[in-house]
Amino acid sequence: MSAASRPSNDPLVHQWMPFTANRQFLEQPRLIARAEGVYYYNTRGEKLLDGSSGLYCIPLGHGRREIREAITKQLEELDYAPPFQYGVPAAFRLAHEMAEMLPAGLNRIMFAGGGSEAVETAMKVALQYHRVRGEGSRLRFIGRERGYHGVNFGGWSVGGMVNNRKAFGVGLPGVAHMRHTHIKENFFEMGEGTHGADLADDLERLVNLHGADTIAACIVEPIAGSTGILVPPKGYLKRLREICTKHGILLIFDEVITGFGRTGEAFAAHTFDVVPDLMTMAKAVTNGTIPMGAVAVREDIQQTILDAAPEDNVEFYHGYTYSAHPVACAAALACLKIYREEDTFAQVRALTPAFLEQVGAFKGMDGVVDTRGFGLLGAIEMAPAGKPGARGFNLLRKAFESGLVLRAAGDSIVLAPPFACTADEITQMIEIVRKLIKET
Ligand SMILES: Cc1ncc(COP(=O)(O)O)c(C=O)c1O
Repeated sequence: MSAASRPSNDPLVHQWMPFTANRQFLEQPRLIARAEGVYYYNTRGEKLLDGSSGLYCIPLGHGRREIREAITKQLEELDYAPPFQYGVPAAFRLAHEMAEMLPAGLNRIMFAGGGSEAVETAMKVALQYHRVRGEGSRLRFIGRERGYHGVNFGGWSVGGMVNNRKAFGVGLPGVAHMRHTHIKENFFEMGEGTHGADLADDLERLVNLHGADTIAACIVEPIAGSTGILVPPKGYLKRLREICTKHGILLIFDEVITGFGRTGEAFAAHTFDVVPDLMTMAKAVTNGTIPMGAVAVREDIQQTILDAAPEDNVEFYHGYTYSAHPVACAAALACLKIYREEDTFAQVRALTPAFLEQVGAFKGMDGVVDTRGFGLLGAIEMAPAGKPGARGFNLLRKAFESGLVLRAAGDSIVLAPPFACTADEITQMIEIVRKLIKET
């Protein structure tokens, strides 16, 4: 039924859906009623494979008993306490456990309600850090074309996805973007591309243009996820690190997607052996059960901010009603326990080679213009048919009818299987995508 022909009291018309073609959705609603393990069930009870781990946030699969029990127990004990000037034990335990997982030195954690809030938090930490050190002229941020850092004003300003920006004005002043790293020379190369490390020198050029003393931070996703899985060229992130260090620019890694095992280690920072000064996290920290984001900050950065404030004063005027929410903390503690005890990231490493090989095998298929991937993140890019993005969206719709939930980024089909998948389930996802590409 079309949107216009639905009666005004139709329950479906009242929700304005996020990042959704609302009118199209009402014509063909894709309703998910239930989930278990790596499967969803639609309202007719039909099974669908979760090819995208929700929104990259359910690596352990749906309905893990341990997480549910931890949430219930926390709700029974303490459902909420104000996070400003009061603390809950679970939040301190969680920050401690996260600090143990993170690269050495990144051991001060501030919580937020999701990835977008984590990004805003990180950007504000960077600004205040420079200011209290007497470098208050460092006000600029450097982002990257095709980057995604959430939808709040700081995040979309440093982000580089055109549709997420163009309706909303000019954004934060003083933001400049490096070029993205999706270059022809690396097409069809799975893993890190051989070419393009020198794209990091864009940062050096922006330093030359604006002056290092005006730049607070450079923010990138180690692997750009939402734009369709852009894997960094070999040496690119190390080069960015060097340039940031040379010029006193803070490097922020946005690991909202890559964090907690997606690359086969706890963080992409480990995998690529590059340690940022701040790191944003969200999604898999609670296996998608309860919203939560976090920023890890270098210890000395926090200390500098604390030391600069008069004693008994709030040092950082920032926080959310739901920062360090006890139920989210309990969910996250349960997830971290599973990651440790089940050696989950080793499962990722075991599943990765066959997954990437199967994604790479789309090379040569009619209409496929690129394949790329790293860890359990893979993309198959199709040549546009008609309007850019139409083919990807069409495939997403058809996949739902064929028993698969996935992501489309423009005309790139993105697979991010839950770590809980079997190799056979990954092959099933791939086969559905292959069939649908043939049909479209
Ligand atoms: C790299 C990155 N940063 C930030 C965000 C925003 O997170 P949220 O949607 O939880 O606000 C996302 C979401 O996909 C993301 O991929």
